[in-house]
Amino acid sequence: MGYKIINKEILNETVIKMDIEAIDVARHAKAGQFIILRIDEKGERIPLTIADANPNNGLVTIIFQIVGLTTLKLSKLNQNDEILDFVGPLGKATKTENVKKALVIGGGVGVAIAYPICKQINNENHQVDAILGFRNKELVILEKEFRNNCQNVYIYSDDGSYQNKGFVTTDLDKIIQENQYDEVFCIGPLVMMKNVCNITKKYNLKTTVSMNPIMIDGTGMCGGCKLYIDNKVKFACIDGPDFDGFKVDFDSLILRNKIYHEREIESCNLYKEANKHE
Ligand code: FAD
Ligand code: FES
Ligand code: MG
Repeated sequence: MGYKIINKEILNETVIKMDIEAIDVARHAKAGQFIILRIDEKGERIPLTIADANPNNGLVTIIFQIVGLTTLKLSKLNQNDEILDFVGPLGKATKTENVKKALVIGGGVGVAIAYPICKQINNENHQVDAILGFRNKELVILEKEFRNNCQNVYIYSDDGSYQNKGFVTTDLDKIIQENQYDEVFCIGPLVMMKNVCNITKKYNLKTTVSMNPIMIDGTGMCGGCKLYIDNKVKFACIDGPDFDGFKVDFDSLILRNKIYHEREIESCNLYKEANKHE
């Protein structure tokens, strides 16, 4: 028996939200944790953040962007369809209990990963502001949810089609200078997290980043999610996904991702070449 999809909502052209019935995961989930799912017997395992969890009705919310085969297959499923495996909660929960005033920064689908952290800080009766970045107006997600949990929400679009024009870093110096934040939580593309850390470092403002490398088993066994933190080997699935942003070696990860993407494009081209007469 699988895990039933109870609700499905299309948030934008590539981002989908689903509520999955997974009572054990819902009971134990904390902000920052994730699940690993497998759609069917032939499917690969992919990690997705627990965007929300309700221990009362047993529903776990996932929000995912269609970027490849498995997320495309997942997007084709509908209400009442089932997912074969839905394992979690995995990873360490985000620590927010000592935060008095936080700034949460999310970019693209990283906004979905940032949302439960925001909600948790607000539920703990601490103040939280958010800076959210999207490429354009059509890609904006979860604005209402952030506004319900934050004092201030600053939205940036790369092309200026929605609210402020620019990136999450455009006014970051000014926003930090005008507020007394004791921690920044940042989730998004590696380059964005690196740039945010370069700014927060100037203010010695503690910055926690969420690292999302390739994960396969999610138990620390396969080594797929290895990264270097303070020159020491760590595994994002069991030691993270949260890490001290000032200690992450972003450059080695950016290089590794580039090689992975180039290989993906290469194998895609080889596949197209081999099948061009079909
Ligand atoms: P593919 O074509 O296979 O890959 C596209 C890109 O996705 C790759 O270049 C790579 O960067 C990434 N990717 C592929 N396979 C994996 C894998 N097994 N593990 C990690 N990354 C992979 N995405 C969301 O949209 N929403 C989330 O809430 C979310 N949370 C995540 C939490 C964690 C802890 C991690 C590690 C990743 C998270 N991701 C999230 C990324 C998501 O796992 C990938 O987008 C997904 O695995 C892509 O699979 P695919 O087959 O559709 O694409
Ligand atoms: Fe295998 Fe982390 S996913 S070690
Ligand atoms: Mg895949």
